[in-house]
Amino acid sequence: MRIAVFGANGPTGRQLTDQALATGHEVVAVTRRPRSIPARPGLTVAVADATDPEDVDATIGGTDAVLSALGARFSKETITTYSASATAITGAMARHGIKRLLTVSSSIADPNWRPSGAHFFNHVLDPLVNRRLGRTLHEDMRRMEAVIRRTDLDWTLVRPSGLFDHSAVTTYHTAEDSADGVFTARTDLAASMLHEMAEQRYVRTAMGVITTAVKPNIAKLIWNEGVKKK
Ligand SMILES: NC(=O)c1ccc[n+]([C@@H]2O[C@H](COP(=O)([O-])OP(=O)(O)OC[C@H]3O[C@@H](n4cnc5c(N)ncnc54)[C@H](OP(=O)(O)O)[C@@H]3O)[C@@H](O)[C@H]2O)c1
Repeated sequence: MRIAVFGANGPTGRQLTDQALATGHEVVAVTRRPRSIPARPGLTVAVADATDPEDVDATIGGTDAVLSALGARFSKETITTYSASATAITGAMARHGIKRLLTVSSSIADPNWRPSGAHFFNHVLDPLVNRRLGRTLHEDMRRMEAVIRRTDLDWTLVRPSGLFDHSAVTTYHTAEDSADGVFTARTDLAASMLHEMAEQRYVRTAMGVITTAVKPNIAKLIWNEGVKKK
């Protein structure tokens, strides 16, 4: 298949691109920073601001599916990256007759998600980090989900839990709406999206995905996600 990957230079987008190329797909890597993506056979790099309808329209023609790993940083201000890009991407897909869309959201978007056995996370980290510091980001993620749900595309909202970097794909778990776990390796997130793109088990619904086979080093996670990425 020929796949458009949005957020292609982000850490999940890189995994999506690498894994898709490795399994024989062609990839159109959509990014604002083309020089950050090395050229490889099967790869086309397209420059676009994902929130700009004309930019997006010009990049996705001729693709069979669209995968988005777009993201924004926490901010006190209103965030629109998720909803604006969803509007631009779904509009362009409808115009080009492309049906299959998989978009990264978050377990937080499921109001019932409370991972079992995670007392400190549920009562301290989640309220403080996700619901307070990440409030405006998750509000826009919910707007993005609403935009996508209103379309008649074959969409899947992909909801990982706390993301971390790991060197290999593990035996990840998926579930409808959200999965019962605190962490998701980006390798597993990408693998689950590519698998679901073809399998179509979670079409027009949300797919939670979690990693349980390995656990992140918490100090490294805080450094990578909270300090280094700012
Ligand atoms: N961190 C977590 O624990 C966690 C948990 C659940 C869900 N998520 C979600 O998972 C997704 C992937 O996260 P990640 O940490 O792997 O990636 P990320 O660091 O959030 O990367 C986001 C990517 O989106 C691109 N982007 C943002 N705005 C854009 C725009 N207007 N036009 C084009 N590209 C744009 C960025 O490109 P530039 O380099 O040009 O900015 C970057 O490549 C995000 O949506 C995140 O919110 C994260």
